[in-house]
Amino acid sequence: MMKKQLIAGNWKMNGTIAQAHEFLKAFVGSCKLVNNPGGENIVVCPPYTLLHVFAEAAKNSTFKVGAQDAYAQECGAFTGNINAPMLKDAGCEYVIVGHSERRTKNYESNFSVQKKAEALQNHGMVPILCIGETQKEREEGKTEEVLSKQIQFSLPLNSSVENLVIAYEPVWAIGTGLVPTNEEIVATIKGIRTSIEEVFNKEFAEGVKILYGGSVNGANASEILSLEGVDGVLVGGASLKAEEFAKIADSAKSS
Ligand code: PGA
Repeated sequence: MMKKQLIAGNWKMNGTIAQAHEFLKAFVGSCKLVNNPGGENIVVCPPYTLLHVFAEAAKNSTFKVGAQDAYAQECGAFTGNINAPMLKDAGCEYVIVGHSERRTKNYESNFSVQKKAEALQNHGMVPILCIGETQKEREEGKTEEVLSKQIQFSLPLNSSVENLVIAYEPVWAIGTGLVPTNEEIVATIKGIRTSIEEVFNKEFAEGVKILYGGSVNGANASEILSLEGVDGVLVGGASLKAEEFAKIADSAKSS
């Protein structure tokens, strides 16, 4: 099956309005893919406060805008939270959910990640659902078990290849400069597809996009994107640098 690789940038808790404008100018100016066929497979997920800046720029471009989390409930007395309809209204087409920083620092469970993803799907957006093992879990040989549990309990059951993207992000590779070997990435993603097949079916397991995330940069993106089973990348730190993110985006292939 022909899949267009997805290149997603996660700005995390970074950026001012001025920096967003500066980034956009340089990014749109230096990325070959943006505004050409394939440009719609580039997604930038800034913090909530910058969504309007990116959404405005995306009106005259092909890239898409995403957020970094969503609250699962509909409107109501939930001080400080932002829900799926609000994100849709703000111009989001994708939303990251279950990032390991939220799973650990905000104590999010598989169940709450699943509810967020369901709410986003119900409002016509695509969750980029993150899964990944810690260093300790990997050392203890528990990678497969951990990933399989995350798949079983955090993926919405009515997902399709159109309304879900999975990001495999080994926690120990995020922001550390450490990247698994090519063989490890290929084998782990293969294992993820096997676990998905057990919960869903073969067609979904083969068709759903699985991104790799964790210390992706301008120097290693092309090689990672050439690996079997890798349908794109989720980029943190390097997505803040316009030229570097443009280089990563321009490494996207049709796998
Ligand atoms: P990193 O972050 O690219 O800075 O390692 C990736 C992520 O957290 O999504």
